[in-house]
Amino acid sequence: MPQFDETELTAAVIKSFEETPNPRLKFLMSELVRSLHDFVRRTDLTFGEWEQGIDFLTRTGQKCTSSRQEFILLSDVLGVSMLVDAVNHREREGATQTTVLGPFYVGEHKPMPHGTDISANIEGERMFVQSRVTDLAGKPLAGVPVDIWHADDEGFYDSQKPSYETAGPSLRARFITDADGRFFFRTILPCSYPIPIDGPVGELILETRRHPMRPAHVHFLVNAPGYEPLITHVFIEGDKYLDSDVVFGVKDELISKIEVRNDATMPDGQPASGPWHLMTYEFRLKPGKGTAPKPMLPAAEHA
Ligand code: BEZ
Ligand code: FE
Repeated sequence: MPQFDETELTAAVIKSFEETPNPRLKFLMSELVRSLHDFVRRTDLTFGEWEQGIDFLTRTGQKCTSSRQEFILLSDVLGVSMLVDAVNHREREGATQTTVLGPFYVGEHKPMPHGTDISANIEGERMFVQSRVTDLAGKPLAGVPVDIWHADDEGFYDSQKPSYETAGPSLRARFITDADGRFFFRTILPCSYPIPIDGPVGELILETRRHPMRPAHVHFLVNAPGYEPLITHVFIEGDKYLDSDVVFGVKDELISKIEVRNDATMPDGQPASGPWHLMTYEFRLKPGKGTAPKPMLPAAEHA
């Protein structure tokens, strides 16, 4: 009957994966066990703490539904999502920086004409977004789908509102770049917002005296054949949470200075009613492949 002391046990569990046919799975399981066992030894984990941990993970799973992904939120607030992003994007070679997808991507929509106001019936300060997609050498990439989504000026995504199923999408859209790689649209200035805190991840944030805020941003997913899919945000310069994003997603290069304009017309020549903001940002794609992520949430009926 084999018996193991603290360190022999780790070696025995790793050995138990010896026959795993998939070498990557064998490696991942061995390293996971090594790290978990190290954690238990280094912390002298008590039975009570271990039970608490199991209870926390159980409740995290129970909180997940088809429209709520508490495990991804946990990965985000522990910095794991950004670490996975970092190790997979070590060499950018001048390509636009990446950041977290977040839980509010619902997948593709029917493309909208350039200039569309994606904020119809939503209160807020007006913003015009003009952008361009190029390769690393600055050559425009035409016909590229760009998915956009952002929160309203109270910090909510459309998918968090009861009206989502019936009202269809707002503050989210798909545009296709023109022959010069450009796309542009109207919307409202987003604001900083708290991640969902009505679950176990929220309890963890409160218990550890962290704040739950993300700095204001617009999400972009640019997916051109022959290039790595680009998942990123453009952050609004001056936001007070840029230095303490609860999911560690901010990178300097992704912060955009938003100009305040009083011109009577917007860049596409259409009239402006009152002051407006201008966001200008260019995305540079890296050659490669990869598939765009699957949405975390189902699209609304009307999408
Ligand atoms: C978001 O930006 O939509 C987001 C990202 C991570 C966690 C929660 C929200
Ligand atoms: Fe977001």
